[in-house]
Amino acid sequence: MSDKVRIGIIGAGAVSDYHHVPGIRIDDRAELVAVCDPNEELLQQRQSDWGETKSTTEYADIAADPDIDAVIIATPNFTHLPIALACIEGGKHVMCEKPLGLNFAESKQMYQAARDKNVRHMTAFTYRFAPSMRYVRHLVSSGALGTPRHFRSQRFLDLPETSWGWRQYKATAGAGDLFDMTIHRIDFAKDLMGPIESVCGAIAQYAPRTKTVDGKDCEPSEVDDWSSLIGRFQSGAVGVWEGSTVMKGYHNDGFGYEWAEVNGSEGSAAYQLTDPNNVLVGKAGESLQHQPVPDEFLVIPGSPRDPKAGVPSTVFRYDLVYELVSAIVEERDAVPGFDDGAMAQAVADAVLVSYENKSWIDIDANVDD
Ligand SMILES: NC(=O)c1ccc[n+]([C@@H]2O[C@H](COP(=O)([O-])OP(=O)(O)OC[C@H]3O[C@@H](n4cnc5c(N)ncnc54)[C@H](O)[C@@H]3O)[C@@H](O)[C@H]2O)c1
Repeated sequence: MSDKVRIGIIGAGAVSDYHHVPGIRIDDRAELVAVCDPNEELLQQRQSDWGETKSTTEYADIAADPDIDAVIIATPNFTHLPIALACIEGGKHVMCEKPLGLNFAESKQMYQAARDKNVRHMTAFTYRFAPSMRYVRHLVSSGALGTPRHFRSQRFLDLPETSWGWRQYKATAGAGDLFDMTIHRIDFAKDLMGPIESVCGAIAQYAPRTKTVDGKDCEPSEVDDWSSLIGRFQSGAVGVWEGSTVMKGYHNDGFGYEWAEVNGSEGSAAYQLTDPNNVLVGKAGESLQHQPVPDEFLVIPGSPRDPKAGVPSTVFRYDLVYELVSAIVEERDAVPGFDDGAMAQAVADAVLVSYENKSWIDIDANVDD
């Protein structure tokens, strides 16, 4: 029996390489022991990229393996539900990428399965871990901004208009920018401001994406590349969100542009993804000023990550694994959990219904009934 948390990665693609494997590497309580992906060439490649581990093309092997304690599911959205249910049934703790499911019902099913089996569950809502986001949260919860009134989020990417693969079909992705990008911002808005009561949303699609990067024809995109909502929080505060993946001139080395802020009765505070170790803060009658994020907010408590090492907009993502492993070791809930994943999904689903119906939608995000 290992004294480390033995982790299996399911889905050996981009996000596992960018976030999760580096996160496992810096946490000496954790060990990568298995990798699963149906792409055999990639699976082979990961043995040299990530080091020798067990490898399999079948997630059922990981779910049934008694020598794996926890899994990270980083596969296309439509596979999250069956893979999570199998791994939970096998007694594994699970971190799953967002969107948790293809809709609220799937996400709720995943939450209830994990709850009933008493395994740790976590949704990979990355931006909650940005130092500036953590500090803005502190400013809101400590009352430094007064009573929160407005939330605002803009997330713009300038991505090529070639095929997005599985990401451009409803059956495999659910939705486009809304489920890929805006759902993170729905989650952190709820974390900052409290539950969202009702929303009015709209989506649009500009890029048909009928060619692959190597010039082959493919079926046109069925999903949005622009998403937006206005919403009212239960507290009486209001919010406005806009996201786009075809925002020309916002490439910025792939990081794009991101701004999120809270305006309270006494002051405002803003987070920017491209400057995550600083915030902008202003009190009534002042102008927003840059301030460094205080040291205690640069990493989550206990994280071994050196906040001065690496690209700031990248490296905070490694703290997700630290939170998952801490929850397992300390036998407590991981944050954000599958319940948070499901609640964000309820709001994202409501954006689609609102757009379809041309109406405001009240949010029903009860995950426990
Ligand atoms: N949290 C974040 O900031 C963030 C960032 C990027 C992607 N994501 C999410 O992560 C997930 C994966 O995205 P990605 O960019 O890594 O995609 P990707 O296409 O690069 O990788 C997905 C991998 O999953 C594999 N796969 C497909 N079906 C599988 C199965 N049944 N079992 C095991 N592996 C399977 C594919 O072969 C591929 O290698 C998506 O849900 C996406 O929304 C989250």
